[in-house]
Amino acid sequence: MASLGAAEPAAASSADPLQYDLTTVVAKSLDRHLVFPLLEFLSQKQLYPAEDIESAKLELIEKTNMVDYAVDIYQGLNQTDEVPDSLVARRQEVVNKLRTLEGQVKTITDFLSNADNVRLLKQDKTQNQAFLQSEFGIGPDQVDALYHLAKWNFECGNYSAAAEYLHHYRSLSTHPDRCVSALWGKVAADILLQDFEAAMEDLLKLKDLLDLDTFAPVVKQLQSRSWLMHWSLFVFFNHENGMNALIDLFLQDRYLTALQLTGQHLLRYLSIAVVINKRRRNVLKDLVRVIQQEQYEYRDPITEFLRCLFVEADFDGAQAWLAQCEEVLDNDFFLVAAKEAFMDAARTFLFETYCRVHQQIDLAELAGQLGMDREATEKWIVNLIRNARLNAKIDAKAGTVVMQTETLGANDALLEKARGLSVRTFSLANTLVGILKA
Ligand SMILES: *[C@@H]1O[C@H](CO)[C@@H](O)[C@H](O)[C@H]1NC(C)=O
Repeated sequence: MASLGAAEPAAASSADPLQYDLTTVVAKSLDRHLVFPLLEFLSQKQLYPAEDIESAKLELIEKTNMVDYAVDIYQGLNQTDEVPDSLVARRQEVVNKLRTLEGQVKTITDFLSNADNVRLLKQDKTQNQAFLQSEFGIGPDQVDALYHLAKWNFECGNYSAAAEYLHHYRSLSTHPDRCVSALWGKVAADILLQDFEAAMEDLLKLKDLLDLDTFAPVVKQLQSRSWLMHWSLFVFFNHENGMNALIDLFLQDRYLTALQLTGQHLLRYLSIAVVINKRRRNVLKDLVRVIQQEQYEYRDPITEFLRCLFVEADFDGAQAWLAQCEEVLDNDFFLVAAKEAFMDAARTFLFETYCRVHQQIDLAELAGQLGMDREATEKWIVNLIRNARLNAKIDAKAGTVVMQTETLGANDALLEKARGLSVRTFSLANTLVGILKA
């Protein structure tokens, strides 16, 4: 696969769709099982040669226990029905290990398969340990084996079995590091099972555990936070409260620090969440500040759009970048479903900011730029106002739209600067046509 990531943005007219593909960068902070959905998405998009994607998949799979999947891909890539000896042997090895581990945890799984037994367990794990040992002969070795069995199942791609064993492991184990790693595994399994309620709950639990671990080396803390943010993308872009949760997590000091030090490309996802989430306009200022600080580390059409609009007050530039955003979102696994919402909100942003800078817009002139008649333009503005998307009043007598005070959290010095600039060249028409279509 071509290498990608924080490439220099090209002139804001034509974009190479691969230039902004973050798959390789994001994959570095994911469990390899979580990379499969991304590769699957890329192969649907046909951005890369199919063979490259299949080879990348095979390379990943060879490090897991998903032998049957590996066989399929091997056969597809090599146009053969043969199964290589190495994979036959590997499958036997995987099955044998699974049986051995299942044997080791049999007393526990028997115990857990009885709901009456499970009810006997208490909150206090040490108490449970003593109880399990004395009543059922279940010791720490078997609890450990439960962890290994969960992991082995996970590697086999049996995520439901993994999730269940990890859940039980966490309720029985007193091993602090392993409990954290079991929770990482549980989050991954939830995601791969597409159980986003459970994933959200487990993700927040994991965050709490990581936040408590202030004795870990700083580098490790940074890495854990960066990983958590990457994994969270699966959850946040699939959960109904995801945009809020994303903003809350990414803008927390210690997470923002991790983002700025190790994962500047995550700014793309934070930007999308902020633009889409109309109730969180108060964080726009923070976002714009970070985009500005990181502009030499990371830029893409989304961050450039925001920077042009709120730092440079360059409406033409913002509009040109916005035109490229559509394709970037379309080719981003996490963002493709948010494309319409983003484009719609971003166009309104652009228009609102323009209006605010002007304070007053002549309806006839606006209608002219839009290529609409005055009445239709007025109706449209009235609708925007009614839907609380534009804080303005129409002065029918003067034939103008008059902006009301503060709707955006953008900084006033910028607006002053923008008012001083000639913003006449801004081609409103494209933006407005976009809003109208939406
Ligand atoms: C997953 O593991 C469970 C428990 O061992 C088993 O019952 C189930 O058949 C497995 N599923 C698959 C698809 O292998």
